[in-house]
Amino acid sequence: MPGRHAVRRARRPQAPPSLHGRARVDPVLRTLDTVIGAYIWTSGSAPRASHTGPQDDGTLALIVTHRRVVAHDQNVVELTLAAADGAPLPVWHPGAHLDLHLPSGRLRQYSLCGDPADRSGYRIAVRLIPDGDGGSLEVHTTLTENTPVTISGPRNAFAFVAPGHGSPAGRLRLIAGGIGITPILPMARMADALGVDWSMIHTGRCRDALPFTAEVTALGPRARIRTDDENDGLPTPEELLGLSATGPAERGTPGALNVSTAVYCCGPPPMVAGILDALRTRTDVEFHCERFSAPAVSDGAPFTVELARSGRTIEVPADRTVLSAVLDALPDTAYSCRQGYCRTCKATALSGNVDHRDSVLTAAERERGEMLICVSRCTDDRLRLDL
Ligand code: FES
Repeated sequence: MPGRHAVRRARRPQAPPSLHGRARVDPVLRTLDTVIGAYIWTSGSAPRASHTGPQDDGTLALIVTHRRVVAHDQNVVELTLAAADGAPLPVWHPGAHLDLHLPSGRLRQYSLCGDPADRSGYRIAVRLIPDGDGGSLEVHTTLTENTPVTISGPRNAFAFVAPGHGSPAGRLRLIAGGIGITPILPMARMADALGVDWSMIHTGRCRDALPFTAEVTALGPRARIRTDDENDGLPTPEELLGLSATGPAERGTPGALNVSTAVYCCGPPPMVAGILDALRTRTDVEFHCERFSAPAVSDGAPFTVELARSGRTIEVPADRTVLSAVLDALPDTAYSCRQGYCRTCKATALSGNVDHRDSVLTAAERERGEMLICVSRCTDDRLRLDL
């Protein structure tokens, strides 16, 4: 999850009690806790008491203890963040991310790419985006070893539920595009440790641009690296999924998608969109994904937003988000992920029927009129916001 979006004012995000925004604890999260706990103990990393707790504002103060380049093109660095006193850090699940508070005030989300059983440090990887909005450049130029950093989290908007350990699926297919390997690596390691029938493809333009090729190779023959320059250009969705052109490959073939498969995918929006399209008629596949950037608005209808504090009105076309329209009028509006999981853009609707499109707000928050304006919309002609 490369954090690529500017934030001027960060509110502290809250972890959802449920993967789906419900008020009570989700049984899937409870199962994940059990599986992770067993994984940590069997990995020989049973935790001692932690002395590292959140500060009053919910953040954790850590330092960069290790930094290394993890792509041949030098454009991806991996940082290890740890407590200054070496105390074990809070537990996390594969798919989890950190909110990294950068010195400039920017807030960025980065997936944890290390081993959940290793509680001595959090590992993240950041690709330099030269024409981005400055977040990755700031990470690359300022976060050297021994630099203090502040984080929130870990939180999980891409929870991994392994087949046979909470998921009814019989096998697992992991798909990573470029830097999208970061949340996928811990999933692969855990699937392997749990004895799950899994396979993986890591794809990109060329090997020089791919991070963590050594780690992927070390996973063995279930993990395949596939680059555009060594093949015939971009992979098809079927190739990514392990489907043959004529249908599912034979059962038992490593890499084959078959009946009852859980697919976890992290990559650029076009890759995710192609896979979703290929799976449109498959009811036997669980699909979970995380995109690098905000998806295009779908099923949108135009409406008017009234900014209650100034009385100004702005139009939200069918293909734009409320956030992007609001930013035209209020450029200091806080935002970060633009995908409906970090809560940074939360605003209160004073009137108008909200079409909630996030998966993190609780029923109580929605009752209070709160909404995430980066994804949620209005089914009425007019939405009045407390902005
Ligand atoms: S910007 Fe992250 S939820 Fe809206």
